[in-house]
Amino acid sequence: MAQEPDRNLALELVRVTEAAALAAGRWMGRGDREAADRAAVEAMRLMLRSIDMDGVVVIGEGEKDEAPMLYNGERIGNGRPPQVDVAVDPIDGTRLLALGRPGALAVIALSERGTMFSPGRIVYMSKLAVGPEAREAIDLDAPVAENLRRIARAKGKDIDDLTVVILDRDRHADLIREVRAAGARIKLIPDGDVSAALMTAFPDSGIDVLMGIGGSPEGVIAAAALKCLGGEIQARLWPRNEEERRFAAEMGYDLRRILTADDLVRGDNIFFAATGITDGEILRGVRYTGAGARTHSLVMRSRSGTIRFVEAHHRWDKLMRISGYPYDRGAGEAPR
Ligand code: FBP
Repeated sequence: MAQEPDRNLALELVRVTEAAALAAGRWMGRGDREAADRAAVEAMRLMLRSIDMDGVVVIGEGEKDEAPMLYNGERIGNGRPPQVDVAVDPIDGTRLLALGRPGALAVIALSERGTMFSPGRIVYMSKLAVGPEAREAIDLDAPVAENLRRIARAKGKDIDDLTVVILDRDRHADLIREVRAAGARIKLIPDGDVSAALMTAFPDSGIDVLMGIGGSPEGVIAAAALKCLGGEIQARLWPRNEEERRFAAEMGYDLRRILTADDLVRGDNIFFAATGITDGEILRGVRYTGAGARTHSLVMRSRSGTIRFVEAHHRWDKLMRISGYPYDRGAGEAPR
């Protein structure tokens, strides 16, 4: 039986990521990561208050002691239903933004209460992510060359046609060697593996697969995005030391277990929004026009599978009358 269309929260959430991007974009290339992050968090949090939802931050800026806002466990939204889990990354690629490099974005994902995996204090995950065509082909337990063979077959390509995106880190020396030996091409990125995971599902990005160890919170956010896009991610917690191993044992996490996108974010009612801060393969960065700004965002919902790109034109004269955030003020400008 046909159902009444219900509310698409992602269309409201895009205002949240736009706000973060508008505030953070002022800090592009200014070398101050903390100030950029503070601006994004403040703007995001202010806008979140207006959203009809009873949210709990599962993936946020960290534990309460170190993060005064958007900390894990914080209640957000205006308290009305629906009850949801929330993952935020006000800036994925803070260093990219501070240096004026491409690929920084603001992102938020929502799912039903109790459906989001919390990695807690385990900072890293090993990840393997692909777009829809190769979703059945991957196996984190299989050797790198075997995964590349399967992905190439699923996409009707040869291995040497594939491009693998990998964070440029010393810990990836062996992985890079194996990918090269298998014959695939590599794009090494300085930061930003949420954006890299998104790329695998957009053929125009030229990226086929994300491999390597990156942030656990970013892994959960990537899972939310890939479920909306029909792609897949497999991940495994990657503790850095004995303390993280002990934490995993206390939490009952099996460190050998492969976590799929469905394990990272369960269910099929996921809302996702991201806004470009600096230019990237999928989203353009913020453009300030004097009288306002232009933003470019991606808005998705897993249940409907609809993917929207939203170009928004913001006017300071009107926005400043209804918003409590000084978007028109440049970085470092004194308060008026
Ligand atoms: P932040 O912008 O939150 O600092 O994250 C950037 C990032 O590159 C993530 O995209 C990635 O998952 C993680 O850092 C990798 O961590 P590390 O820089 O410690 O290797």
